[in-house]
Amino acid sequence: MERLNRVNLIFLGPPGAGKGTQAERLARRWHLKKISTGDILREAVRNNTPLGQKAREYMERGDLVPDEVMLGLIREVLRELPEGGFILDGFPRTLEQARGLDRLLQELNLQLHAVVLFEVPDEEIVRRLSARRVCPKCGATYNLITDPPKNDERCDRCGEPLVLRDDDHPDTVRHRLEVYHRQTEPLIEYYRRRDLLRTISGVGTPEEVETRLLQALQDGHSH
Ligand code: AP5
Repeated sequence: MERLNRVNLIFLGPPGAGKGTQAERLARRWHLKKISTGDILREAVRNNTPLGQKAREYMERGDLVPDEVMLGLIREVLRELPEGGFILDGFPRTLEQARGLDRLLQELNLQLHAVVLFEVPDEEIVRRLSARRVCPKCGATYNLITDPPKNDERCDRCGEPLVLRDDDHPDTVRHRLEVYHRQTEPLIEYYRRRDLLRTISGVGTPEEVETRLLQALQDGHSH
């Protein structure tokens, strides 16, 4: 992984494992493009685009958006990708998506270098996600425990009162976890067999997790 800005990665793990937080840090450090399908979909819902209209009800329930919609979306994003590497945060999430991604990467002559799995127990996830707050206006995210806003539950950037994400209510989080275990976990074996998987613990401070992530990517082993 000597040319770090040409590395192509997937971040895999349950909802709330810290994929987005770590993808943002690593993208900044290694000059990679962070591609978060959750962020793209939420923006489409906010702007009420045709994609947002298709995705809204699935997201509110905590279900996955259908594979053909996601594969169409990722095809557009990867085709317009500027030079340099990328981190896929939250995609693929089903075997069908993983197979579709393989075909697409081959077509675009791109190679996957590693798939990082962030492991966090379910109880910790429910705790983390019920403390997450988002700004309904600009999309900035906070966490009342680990990353609180400066003024009580208002956005630091635009002053808007913060809200709980629609799918972060504890019952919906439990449903998202079931969906993860049923539909996404089979990808662990899929990438392990191809010797791409690096497993790290996502428990601890974001700094501790980042240190494990860098070690796992640099020496090619799990931590
Ligand atoms: P998406 O937005 O991808 O949700 P998710 O995977 O459920 O991810 P989260 O954003 O909840 O968690 P994360 O692992 O990124 O953690 P984060 O860093 O934010 O998807 C939402 C929905 O979109 C899906 O349910 C589905 O409907 C649809 N969708 C998206 N992609 C799809 C696909 N490929 N196919 C089909 N449908 C798709 O951290 C979480 C919280 O914990 C934050 O508050 C953060 O501050 C905090 N935190 C982070 N790290 C730590 C730490 N080390 N210690 C303590 N707290 C921490």
